[in-house]
Amino acid sequence: MIVTTKKLFEAAYGKYAIGAYNINNLEQTMGLFRGNLDSQAPFIIQISKGARSYTHKLMLEGLIRSAEDVFPDAIFAVHLDHGDEQSCYDCVDSGFYSSVMIDASHEDFDTNIAITRRIVDYAHAKGVVVEAELGQLGGVEEHVSVSESDAKLTNPAQALEFVERSGCDSLAVAIGTSHGAYKFAGSQALRLDVLAEIQKALPGFPLVMHGSSSVPQEEVERINQAGGKIKGAKGVDASQFKRAAQLGVTKVNIDTDGRLVWTRVHREHFLDHPENFDMRPPGKVFMAEYAKFIADKNEKLGSAGQLEAVRKILVSAS
Ligand code: G3H
Ligand code: 13P
Ligand code: ZN
Repeated sequence: MIVTTKKLFEAAYGKYAIGAYNINNLEQTMGLFRGNLDSQAPFIIQISKGARSYTHKLMLEGLIRSAEDVFPDAIFAVHLDHGDEQSCYDCVDSGFYSSVMIDASHEDFDTNIAITRRIVDYAHAKGVVVEAELGQLGGVEEHVSVSESDAKLTNPAQALEFVERSGCDSLAVAIGTSHGAYKFAGSQALRLDVLAEIQKALPGFPLVMHGSSSVPQEEVERINQAGGKIKGAKGVDASQFKRAAQLGVTKVNIDTDGRLVWTRVHREHFLDHPENFDMRPPGKVFMAEYAKFIADKNEKLGSAGQLEAVRKILVSAS
């Protein structure tokens, strides 16, 4: 059942965070649904602009609609990740997406608000909810001074004005994370102090953490041992997710970790089976490993085991 993120966030706020997982293909779709049902978790499927154009924008829609039939118990939102204006309009018009992200965080404050407001008015008229972003994600790099890196973080003093004027339904905040596998040059440094200030400014309002892959070191080592060259990769300490959830984070975005699972499975498979040229044996291993990875992540987010409680809320509201 496809629902809006708004409904999922109401159930989760202050208690746990919902995993938002990017997908690009069939094997990820299967593993994603299996892993979420195995762990009895509601979830968010994220589709980036790159994922939409990887094959054809209708292909992922077709896969997800089929997955809904194959896994009728699943409860999830379908979300456009890092949309620009045009892709937001396109996804709202499709009637398939229940949520879109307008990412105008690179614009100045007033322009970000104006663009977000246009998307909010358009999306809300069609029952679609909107995530916006304030502040800029970026890793904590050694050469960047504290004041320089602080300047990119979400300014708690601007958060309320941004939400009131833009009308967005959830807010992606910059609290020290960054996209990809190289998040921290030194020790990992999530700015939970800044998050606490944002929550104070926006009590009860759903916050979103991008760039939240953990980049497990065992995974990185296995990839490198199987011929990969990923040196110095580092991610977010997953033991902080529950604290972040108490501080208002209801959505945690994870893409890179899934890519690492894919890379490890395929590198190891072809190293161990150099004679193989059938894509299905590693594909089967990947789907099983990806499902395990999702279920494990949901435990860390606290969303595991919440599926029936969410279903009850949805049924009593309808
Ligand atoms: O935040 C970006 C996501 O990891 C999606 O990445 O644009 O390469 O699909 P992508
Ligand atoms: P990671 O690169 O940490 O997985 O972040 C993904 C993300 O934020 C997608 O929007
Ligand atoms: Zn992101």
